[in-house]
Amino acid sequence: MSSVLSPEMRRRAGGRDIRIVFDEATIAARVHALGQEITAAFPDGELLVLGLLKGSFIFLSDLVRQIDRPLHLDFLVASSYGSEQVSSGNVRLVYDPETPLEEKHLLIVEDIIDSGRTMKKMLALLATRRPASLAVCALLNKNLLPVPIPEVRWVGFPAPPAFLVGYGLDHVEDYRHLPFIGDLN
Ligand code: IMP
Ligand code: MG
Repeated sequence: MSSVLSPEMRRRAGGRDIRIVFDEATIAARVHALGQEITAAFPDGELLVLGLLKGSFIFLSDLVRQIDRPLHLDFLVASSYGSEQVSSGNVRLVYDPETPLEEKHLLIVEDIIDSGRTMKKMLALLATRRPASLAVCALLNKNLLPVPIPEVRWVGFPAPPAFLVGYGLDHVEDYRHLPFIGDLN
């Protein structure tokens, strides 16, 4: 695999020279494996997959098509109060699922765990809704936490210390539609 963009991909990226870190075939194979693991892991009962928008939208849609059991799907939209630059750690749900969460197996699907602040706050908030279980599947994990978050049961790939874009991940809303995951710098 070449890490250099084809002329078509370079055009899609607006001429920006992004280095491919995980190509389409690598992502597809990993998402297939994650789907099989998730299928095997959940006991009977209602599984509600909650995609954290917007970053998870492509991963989420590929992942649920690899999960071989009944499930329901909804979204979460989180927002931090206070300063926009520094994550205040105060997470609020801007969109809260209509479906009750009580007694359901919740699987949160996230694009990337960086400092882990967003995820920790989100999990604390969802735990108050009395789900049957609470687990996370993250596409990428930068592994910056001294103590891993126990609910993060599945990770697609360990992320290199770079700013990653594509396959749902953005830089100021650009590059979400690229089919691969690349390093912007
Ligand atoms: P955390 O609260 O520091 O873990 O931030 C996680 C959120 O920051 C993710 O859900 C992404 O939206 C964003 N983020 C962190 N690192 C990257 C990156 O490398 N590329 C794109 N978005 C990122
Ligand atoms: Mg995100």
